[in-house]
Amino acid sequence: MAIRNIVKIGDPILNKVCRPVTDFDERLWQLLDDMRETLAQADGVGLAAPQVGILRRIFIMDVGDGLVEAINPEIVSEKGVQEETEGCLSLPNEWGITKRPRKVKLKAQDRYGKYFFITAEDLKARCICHETDHLNGVLFTSHVIRKIDPEET
Ligand code: NI
Repeated sequence: MAIRNIVKIGDPILNKVCRPVTDFDERLWQLLDDMRETLAQADGVGLAAPQVGILRRIFIMDVGDGLVEAINPEIVSEKGVQEETEGCLSLPNEWGITKRPRKVKLKAQDRYGKYFFITAEDLKARCICHETDHLNGVLFTSHVIRKIDPEET
């Protein structure tokens, strides 16, 4: 495994739409392993492939209940609303209150191509929305309803 560089705001790669994953091979597994190590080292909860310079539809997350690897993820349903604090490893100095669904259902493939579903709420739902957005070139700042002053955090 290896730690990869996290792409920061200003890099146009963060605004691009990612392509689906078609090959569930060792190259993908290497990327996922590297992303896991990169996320752990950065002490984050989620990381999307474009954040390490790869324009593929992949994200990983760990909100404290175990690692999830989501390939070709798709939010299939949303329920409710939550307004909570959000940040991003690619925007290290920006925080804001975002408006997100409180509950989501995610459909994705695992590293072997097998489909699975996750129902998530609160932080995990926010994370799923945030990371799925990255795959469409969208950053959390476009969901911010109130910026948070760094002195507040
Ligand atoms: Ni992010």
